Amino acid sequence: GQPQLHYRDQALYLEDRRLSDLAREHGTPLYVYSQASMLQALAAYQRGFAGRRVQICYAMKANSSLAVLQLFAQHGCGFDIVSGGELERVMAAGGDPAKVIFSGVGKTRAEMRQALEAGIGCFNVESEAELEVLSEVAQSMGLRAPISIRVNPNVDAKTHPYISTGLKGNKFGIAHERTLDTYRRAAQLPGLRVVGIDCHIGSQITEETPYLDAMDRLLDLVQAIEAAGIAIHHIDFGGGLGIDYNGDTPPAADALWSSLLAKLDARGYGDRLLMIEPGRSLVGNAGVCLTQVLYLKPGEQKNFCVVDAAMNDLPRPAMYQAYHAIVPLDAAAKAPEQVYDVVGPICESGDWLGKDRSLAVAAGDMLAVLSTGAYCSSMGSTYNTRARPAEVLVDGAQAHLIRAREGISDIFRCERLIPPKS
Ligand code: LLP
Repeated sequence: GQPQLHYRDQALYLEDRRLSDLAREHGTPLYVYSQASMLQALAAYQRGFAGRRVQICYAMKANSSLAVLQLFAQHGCGFDIVSGGELERVMAAGGDPAKVIFSGVGKTRAEMRQALEAGIGCFNVESEAELEVLSEVAQSMGLRAPISIRVNPNVDAKTHPYISTGLKGNKFGIAHERTLDTYRRAAQLPGLRVVGIDCHIGSQITEETPYLDAMDRLLDLVQAIEAAGIAIHHIDFGGGLGIDYNGDTPPAADALWSSLLAKLDARGYGDRLLMIEPGRSLVGNAGVCLTQVLYLKPGEQKNFCVVDAAMNDLPRPAMYQAYHAIVPLDAAAKAPEQVYDVVGPICESGDWLGKDRSLAVAAGDMLAVLSTGAYCSSMGSTYNTRARPAEVLVDGAQAHLIRAREGISDIFRCERLIPPKS
């Protein structure tokens, strides 16, 4: 569940702010995040790594709001980025480019140049072709690009197929068997400097075993690469730790890392600089999405609860059939309890936020969609020309507007009409 979310006198609060007040003040749909929850989640990792050399690189794709990045930067985090745009966000939020690592299978030359100019910490290279291009780009700038190779350890993270990334037959990383040859090639290229090794096996992982297996396979590779005379200064173990959406029981970050560190120590790699790229586990359970009930629509087969948030604002249910709990902001409401599909106003049958939910609601009531701090706002779109929601960060009794509600003219600002025929 969400650590800072609770009812007080039947009203839902995030930290010390009553959510219905925020909904009234800022309108709906509205994302609200708890700063304390984010820092608590970060602290769990920091506890797990106490006394170790580690760089936590927040995978900012999970939630890339500038204020969220600013918060993590102020608490020592670096960032895992996957585009030049994300790098610009890091800089705008006051992040340190030296603590940035750049992942992704499709980095362009322009993005490589931009990242080299900024002086990022490491490129996580995902293919042999990318290795050659990066070397060329860096050499043309008179530089050597710091690199890790992302290896695909071929372990099953036992998660949704769309978000599992560590198995053969998916587009990420370099196959285990090709790794040593690829490192040999990297070490020869004039524009590169090998600094580490990287892996990431998937997302919303709720078991410890795939991590332990991946670590074993990764350390086998470190051993082989170093035996070939190529030093591996850091080990980047990716992200992927799951959160509790619906009774899920992922290991706690500190518990997971005490097992992983025990393995590193046992194999003699306990002194290496470690890097991790957590996203969801830092922010997922820090956020809620507030939405208002527009209409109740009873039916023969289904009752629908039509709300003002939709798949453009919160795409995870439509994209992955993901479960997000939905609860009322006012638990004292007196409407009769019914089973509803909670749906948005978008003209698609896939536009739903929750199916078969028991709710005691009436039109005008406010609901909170829970565990929406990660991959919700950041995956939003303006489909159906719906403006992006506002976002608020709560810190105790304080609430900061960190994103103003978008205007419709913002949406079509870059569009042009066809000029009149002359
Ligand atoms: N590192 C790399 C290279 C990644 O590709 C990802 C996520 C992460 C780190 C962070 O993983 P996390 O700790 O957040 O699990 N949109 C999907 C999740 C996509 C994950 C993409 N990669 C969802 O809503 O479930």
